[in-house]
Amino acid sequence: MPAPVGLQLSQFALDVADGLGRAGQKEVPPRYFYDDLGSILFEAITLLPEYGLTRADERLLGSHSDAIVSETGPVALIAELGSGSGRKTRYILEAALRRQREVTYRPIDVSASALEACERELSNISEVQPICADWMEGLNEVAQNRATDEPLLLLFLGSSIGNVKRCEIVEFLRHIRWNLRAGDFFLVGADLVKNEQRMIAAYDDPTGVTAAFNLNLLGRMNRELDADFDLRSFVHEARWNSSERCIEMHLRSQRDQVVHVGEPDLRVGFREGETICTELSHKFTQAELISYAHSSGFDPVTMWMDRTWPFVEALWRADER
Ligand code: AVJ
Repeated sequence: MPAPVGLQLSQFALDVADGLGRAGQKEVPPRYFYDDLGSILFEAITLLPEYGLTRADERLLGSHSDAIVSETGPVALIAELGSGSGRKTRYILEAALRRQREVTYRPIDVSASALEACERELSNISEVQPICADWMEGLNEVAQNRATDEPLLLLFLGSSIGNVKRCEIVEFLRHIRWNLRAGDFFLVGADLVKNEQRMIAAYDDPTGVTAAFNLNLLGRMNRELDADFDLRSFVHEARWNSSERCIEMHLRSQRDQVVHVGEPDLRVGFREGETICTELSHKFTQAELISYAHSSGFDPVTMWMDRTWPFVEALWRADER
């Protein structure tokens, strides 16, 4: 639904103006995938046989949650960046509650419906205090309102860290560290570099679910920004960028065309073959993760790896500064 005329432009409109109005590679940030339809399409992606990432994450948390909380010791507070549905977090909360009487869980997400799902899923086992905000704002809120001096465990699961541009990862992690105290813990899930065909297939499944997920971004601009994208004239593309070690998702225009975006009243020209880059999904090595920890103020504690689908949960401790 387009915003009433005369009101301030939404952040979505501003980001689209910036990303599609530029001279070089056009782009739209991946956070805009997740409207109601996009969130359901993402859930469907996690069920695809080609997309092993989420199952690997769940297997690791299912088998190692007790080991994770025995490394951290008692934690009063568990916070999570981008909580999603909360299904994976259950393992960690249950493991913590086998060692201590109570724990407060603070999921941070921009999506109110994700937070509701999370509350429904988890409020029977622990106190849930959702924060509807973007990651850094929410984390700041958590940091400001800590009652005790018991350590905090911050979760960042599902390789969401893969969406951060490679050149910004250390800065991003330092920003997280800055909101923590020495002795706090950070558990980060990261997808590892693997066979190129396997990585591409995970983002270009033959069922076309990922293509639908990608094209929905154009649909969302049509619905919310009053744009007139012809979805049938764009095709989904997934490529491996070997120098940045990331999967790039694009939408490629099949013809020369001009698209109008009502809010912010922008005309966007596309040449035949030109693309919009919609997502970077970085893949990591274990050594690289250890060096990111050291560069950003953390001591790596332990890593757990899935062999079926190379993926790790890395547990870091905020170092003494
Ligand atoms: C939620 C960012 C981890 O990069 O694998 C899945 C999103 N995009 N298929 C990923 C996604 C296309 C996903 N993350």
